[in-house]
Amino acid sequence: MIEMKLISKRCGIINPQSIQDFIKHDGFSVLERVIKNPDHQYLSEIEVSRLRGRGGAGFPVATKINAFAKETCDAKYIIMNADEGEPGNFKDKYLMEKDPFGLIEGMVLVAYLTQATHGYIYLRGEYLQARTLLENALDLARKEHYLGKNIRQSSYDFDIEIRMGAGSYVCGEEFALIESIEGKPGRTRVKPPFPTSVGLFGKPTLIQNVETFQTIPFIIDIGGSAYQKIGTKSSTGTKLISLSGNVLHKGVYEVPFGIPIRTVIDELGGGMEHNRKLKMVQLGGACGPIIPDYMLDMIIDFERFEEFDSKTGAGAIIVMDDRFSIFDILIRIVTFFEHESCGKCTPCREGHQQLRIILSRFVRKQAGIEDMIALESLARVMHQTSLCGLGQSSPTAIISTLRYFRDDYIDRLDHLG
Ligand SMILES: Cc1cc2nc3c(=O)[nH]c(=O)nc-3n(C[C@H](O)[C@H](O)[C@H](O)COP(=O)(O)O)c2cc1C
Ligand code: SF4
Repeated sequence: MIEMKLISKRCGIINPQSIQDFIKHDGFSVLERVIKNPDHQYLSEIEVSRLRGRGGAGFPVATKINAFAKETCDAKYIIMNADEGEPGNFKDKYLMEKDPFGLIEGMVLVAYLTQATHGYIYLRGEYLQARTLLENALDLARKEHYLGKNIRQSSYDFDIEIRMGAGSYVCGEEFALIESIEGKPGRTRVKPPFPTSVGLFGKPTLIQNVETFQTIPFIIDIGGSAYQKIGTKSSTGTKLISLSGNVLHKGVYEVPFGIPIRTVIDELGGGMEHNRKLKMVQLGGACGPIIPDYMLDMIIDFERFEEFDSKTGAGAIIVMDDRFSIFDILIRIVTFFEHESCGKCTPCREGHQQLRIILSRFVRKQAGIEDMIALESLARVMHQTSLCGLGQSSPTAIISTLRYFRDDYIDRLDHLG
């Protein structure tokens, strides 16, 4: 069985509006256990698990949580990053709609272990169903004393509120998100200091992705060393994959790291729709590399993705058949990022416009070899010099197609036509 439903085990099984159903399926059991036995070194379980963040950057979770736990301050904030604005990703939506109490358990657990004082869910503006379900779950959790004052008869107080995004992709970036919650335009800040020491309202702040919060109770439950045996050496555990595009069975699948991409497409996705030929696959989301069919035996793994100068992204696999040209896709991607750029730094603000102008010459078959050189050089400059992850990673699709689909570019050069 390729699917391994560990953190998504309750999804589709329980009624997401019923706290009783959640509790019947082991919900809140890890939190209860931790509150009753507070002396165990739970944070070291996360360290042993080698969990890496599931929101895209893949940063070691223990490093961040430990730094945050050490901060002593009158206010310490925990934020669940539920912005999920990158095209091709919908796995956080799935978790929020199918297991909202699981996320509350994850947040309260992390908050308790780090002695945070308040929590926020920063939720993508379009996710209205998730909002309704989360609001209901928060209300019911408060009634049952899993939130609020003296959580489960302990002396610990913690509550969570939802803040809605307003459709800006860059607000998923941690400092832009913080600025947005503070009521300012969503723009990143120069690091350091990092949010774990100076974050929301100038206080220590821990930001983790939805899937990361969902994973932590599972790790505490089975223990870090059992968890790190799942997956691969560099990428432990499981990953939720958002599979979309021209495959038969689109959807969210939980798989252990180390599974070949082709297996996900053929066995979980059921292969190509209408038996069409696969042209390309984009990994991670709009910020990720585009690869051809012959590379699909590559496994899902943080280290493998880093070979593209790219991050795993949040786990999207977008499959495109041979009706699409790489230029249709690249123009859409670049137009999206041109629109979403916050404008704070020059490489990103100006670069996307220039990328679009050059790409449109390839679309019209009016490009010259100098356009290929300019495209590559501009994409690399943006990758190396942009201030935040948006401009650093948005050229990945161009860089990868210049490498793996070079003939498609050469076919469009005007002197050949
Ligand atoms: C432009 C941009 C958008 C991002 N959007 C998201 C997002 O929607 N959700 C998310 O969890 N992380 C997003 N991130 C990554 C966050 O900055 C941060 O690394 C992440 O929330 C940390 O959580 P994790 O360690 O659990 O992955 C984004 C980063 C950038 C640069
Ligand atoms: S890279 Fe783009 S989104 Fe990020 S700070 Fe610069 S202009 Fe803004």
